[in-house]
Amino acid sequence: MDGLHGSALLRATGRCLVPLIIPASCVLWVLFFFPSPSPEVAVRRDSFLPVVTPVQRAGDMPPPPPPPMPTLERAEIIDTSPPPPSPPPPARRGRPARRDRCAGRYVYMHELPSRFNTDLLRDCQTLSEWTDMCRHVANGGIGPRLPARTGGVLPATGWYDTNQFTLEVIFHARMRRYGCLTADVSRAAAVYVPYYPGLDVGRYLWGFSNGVRDMLAEDLAEWLRDTPAWAAHGGRDHFLVGGRIAWDFRREDGGGEGSQWGSRLLLLPEAMNMTALVIEASPWHRRTDVGVPYPTYFHPWRPSDVSSWQRDARRANRPWLFAFAGAGRGNGNGDDHHHHHGGGAVVRDRIIAQCARSRRCGLLRCGARGRRDDCYDPGNVMRLFKSAAFCLQPRGDSYTRRSVFDAILAGCVPVFFHPGSAYTQYRWHLPRDHAAYSVFVPEDGVRNGTVRVEDVLRRVSAAKVAAMREQVIRMIPTVVYRDPRAPSSRGFRDAVDVAVDGVIERVRRIKQGLPPGGDDDDGGEHRWDAYFDTQ
Ligand SMILES: *[C@@H]1O[C@H](CO)[C@@H](O)[C@H](O)[C@H]1NC(C)=O
Ligand SMILES: *[C@@H]1O[C@H](CO)[C@@H](O)[C@H](O)[C@H]1NC(C)=O
Repeated sequence: MDGLHGSALLRATGRCLVPLIIPASCVLWVLFFFPSPSPEVAVRRDSFLPVVTPVQRAGDMPPPPPPPMPTLERAEIIDTSPPPPSPPPPARRGRPARRDRCAGRYVYMHELPSRFNTDLLRDCQTLSEWTDMCRHVANGGIGPRLPARTGGVLPATGWYDTNQFTLEVIFHARMRRYGCLTADVSRAAAVYVPYYPGLDVGRYLWGFSNGVRDMLAEDLAEWLRDTPAWAAHGGRDHFLVGGRIAWDFRREDGGGEGSQWGSRLLLLPEAMNMTALVIEASPWHRRTDVGVPYPTYFHPWRPSDVSSWQRDARRANRPWLFAFAGAGRGNGNGDDHHHHHGGGAVVRDRIIAQCARSRRCGLLRCGARGRRDDCYDPGNVMRLFKSAAFCLQPRGDSYTRRSVFDAILAGCVPVFFHPGSAYTQYRWHLPRDHAAYSVFVPEDGVRNGTVRVEDVLRRVSAAKVAAMREQVIRMIPTVVYRDPRAPSSRGFRDAVDVAVDGVIERVRRIKQGLPPGGDDDDGGEHRWDAYFDTQ
């Protein structure tokens, strides 16, 4: 195809595969439900000097033809969640004031015209040329239920074929049931903008003009600016959710490859006043971006769904020392196009080669010629991750992978090679003490061939592995997205609960004129700076 040019397509292909593959992940059952760790704030991003030319990143690459999917009825596609509950009645006058359980937690949700969200679901067949997104946006964005044929690895309930790009749909469905919505913006601690920017731009990444890519985003900015809700704080109490990496929303015009990729949403003055929750934040835009977990296949309804999976994860036999699921990058070709990532492709290929040579590494290779696309099957991915102590998470074309969350879900201790893959990303959702739940192997040693990952992992004591695994398993409730059709529950705090609390605290600081990131903004935590190019 012509509009796409070979190189973009190639890159696109590579990158698409990975996310698709990775998505399948890990899951576990649990014995007891553990309270989720308190959200942690960690890592600074603004501290890095910007000036990077965002490179093209293919968020969804044309994957190999997926297995045939059942067609869904139109009706299933459209979000059928009930309307938001009405806000709790105001406390009666003249009585001893009852404590308002929503005090300080009210959220105002903009009533956007349908062109910004539900029309995209209605026209779901236009969302992707390669993936049947109609099935994936069903059920409030979690997709169709997985069939029971997962070989016993997945429980019968709570598991869905969730696409990694549907977060904005899931989040919207969850917010409709948020227990503290208010129709009175003056009471709101934060304002949610339920626009689907990733689904929007995803339609136009290949073969469309920049004007087309930006149209709806610009329309939104204009629409918001005219609302009374915007006027109060210039939009600085607003947040939106983007189910794609931030690069896809920051097209730098004026030359370079980045000028051809993505929309300019996050470069619009309106968006720059807002908080953007994205599956991968830019290290150079901490003022706007906050990373939130990729959706996984698990969408528990009730706390017992989580605890029983945690129990499974604890009990799992783990014959593999380590495992990798994903696609290679092919000898590092294309590195020139990803120079600001400093050769992530080479490192990934080395890591895959190390895994392939080790008898202690389980490898699920995606997109390899002549192989079945086993890694598109959630059961396969979860089975692998549940049978390994460590799961390797090298970056690909971007810093992050959905596989990170699949691994956590499976109770598999993630091994990171770049801080941008997690430590500088998910500061509300992952513990600040990264050594408690993960292993860090800097890329350099792998790249120059002096470090064998297996040697590093074998040196970790059994007691340390067990402690890290337990920490990972305790993180599960915090990184999963509860079934958005479930009544809002206080049983456990999921990724949305943590994100909303994070936004509210952030907005509170912004309104007070404090740095939005709290300690992270002024604590001088620059320890990861050297890993990010400043160009
Ligand atoms: C962004 O916020 C600032 C400070 O409140 C305000 O002056 C400015 O007008 C806002 N920008 C837009 C586009 O509303
Ligand atoms: C390989 O990289 C490591 C880590 O940066 C470094 O300490 C080591 O000196 C390098 N070795 C060679 C042979 O380049």
